[in-house]
Amino acid sequence: MTHCRINPSILSADFANLQAELDRISNADAAHIDVMDNHFVPNLTLGLPVVKRLQEVSPIPLDVHLMIDDADRNAPAYADLGVDSVTFHLEASKAPVRLARELRARGSKASMALRPATPIEPYLSLLPELDMVLIMTVEPGFGGQAFLDITLPKIRAAATAIAGSGIPVALQVDGGVDPETIVRAAEAGADVFVAGSAVYNTPDPAHAVDTLRNLADRAANETPA
Ligand code: DX5
Ligand code: ZN
Repeated sequence: MTHCRINPSILSADFANLQAELDRISNADAAHIDVMDNHFVPNLTLGLPVVKRLQEVSPIPLDVHLMIDDADRNAPAYADLGVDSVTFHLEASKAPVRLARELRARGSKASMALRPATPIEPYLSLLPELDMVLIMTVEPGFGGQAFLDITLPKIRAAATAIAGSGIPVALQVDGGVDPETIVRAAEAGADVFVAGSAVYNTPDPAHAVDTLRNLADRAANETPA
């Protein structure tokens, strides 16, 4: 039985009131924090000092998604803040094994993200080093983009490899997740779902979280593993 998790992205929240915005999703499994540096992606959001305060006030764990260059040098400081998980992009790391081990050594879960065009197959041997794999279902950089169905075979391949490995690695998807696309992603084997606009661009974000989780749980558990 798969228990699907919903991690709302605060990228679509009110940046002038982030503490209140976190309180509105206290029924979610974690809050997804998108850190962008205007180099790895063409957008700039927030960095260490803001994540530090969010970690202090958040009612739920933080799932930090780093869309920043030179992850080997820049990611460990986020783990030092005590956040639940730190996700670095494979494309921004020269030494992903060393980085994953460093994140874990600093007390955070280690997670590796792949852009839509990055294949999973060459990196399956890294699974024992990871707590989560993030398959981007849009090109990273902005909220509100359409889910890319071309990523579904990669989600399936990753889910099959994880199940076959026997290692408890979570499989996250991020980008364009809504009540329709979450069903396809869950059927393909994802079990952690990031949703920004589908949660915050609704009148009742907590209700949106519950709806998405129910849809994902139903889809995940109807499909034979
Ligand atoms: C995009 C970010 C996502 C974004 C998702 O690069 O990584 O987390 O907030 O937003 P939606 O759910 O609106 O596609
Ligand atoms: Zn994200």
